[in-house]
Amino acid sequence: MDKLNLTANLLENESLTLDNKMFRNRLRARKATPKDLNEIYHIACSVGKNKKDSNQGFLMDDYSSDPKYYQKRLMESILELDHFYVAESYNNKIVGFLMAYTKEQWLKYNENWIEEVFWHPSFDKSKIEDFILIDKTAIYAPLTGHGIGSKLYELLIQDILKKGIHDILAETIISPLPNFASLAFRKKQDYTLAGTRYEDYKGETYTDLIYHKSV
Ligand SMILES: CC(C)(COP(=O)(O)OP(=O)(O)OC[C@H]1O[C@@H](n2cnc3c(N)ncnc32)[C@H](O)[C@@H]1OP(=O)(O)O)[C@@H](O)C(=O)NCCC(=O)NCCS
Repeated sequence: MDKLNLTANLLENESLTLDNKMFRNRLRARKATPKDLNEIYHIACSVGKNKKDSNQGFLMDDYSSDPKYYQKRLMESILELDHFYVAESYNNKIVGFLMAYTKEQWLKYNENWIEEVFWHPSFDKSKIEDFILIDKTAIYAPLTGHGIGSKLYELLIQDILKKGIHDILAETIISPLPNFASLAFRKKQDYTLAGTRYEDYKGETYTDLIYHKSV
């Protein structure tokens, strides 16, 4: 058992003995740093696997298929993105991360993204004058549903409000396999549907729902 698994198991046991409020009170979110890379990568591996689980939620990639490549990609994001956060529980162990792009950063890598989205007729497009796009949220697989994702969002929202940004967009995959955990999380966080996008990825066409929330 590696160090992170051991920690996660301890956290799991702890969450059974502590009430949920106490567990949540121990959570802390902060900006990611290069030192966090290994733990971030392990968390990505726990939910970004070859075999995807709709109910637990998943990341599109299979992170353990090419450790060097994915660690490099994650490191680049830690260094570049203004809004890359980790959540820690007791012992300062990382239990989840959230990676978000500013509009400028997002369009740098996805030049035609705004044109590719089929915007919902009722969506007010003035909301995309400036925005933050959440690219990935990942909670260590055995620890989902304990408020870690919500804690990461709290810090993101606090930071973007300081910059005067009030609109958040997030994509959720519904085909070829729906991400039910992500859909439930969006609902819980009061997002509304803003559009749909078809995305070609590794020889397949994915369907993404674009969700929006004003803060
Ligand atoms: C989706 C995800 C980020 C949510 O984070 P989290 O820490 O589990 O969520 P929280 O505990 O803060 O919020 C809980 C709410 O999210 C929803 N939710 C989270 N996981 C869920 C699941 N597996 N099934 C159904 N609903 C789920 C529920 O509405 C839940 O509210 P409830 O506890 O009152 O029922 C997390 O489950 C995860 O990392 N999943 C795997 C990766 C992924 O799918 N990421 C999103 C796409 S990038």
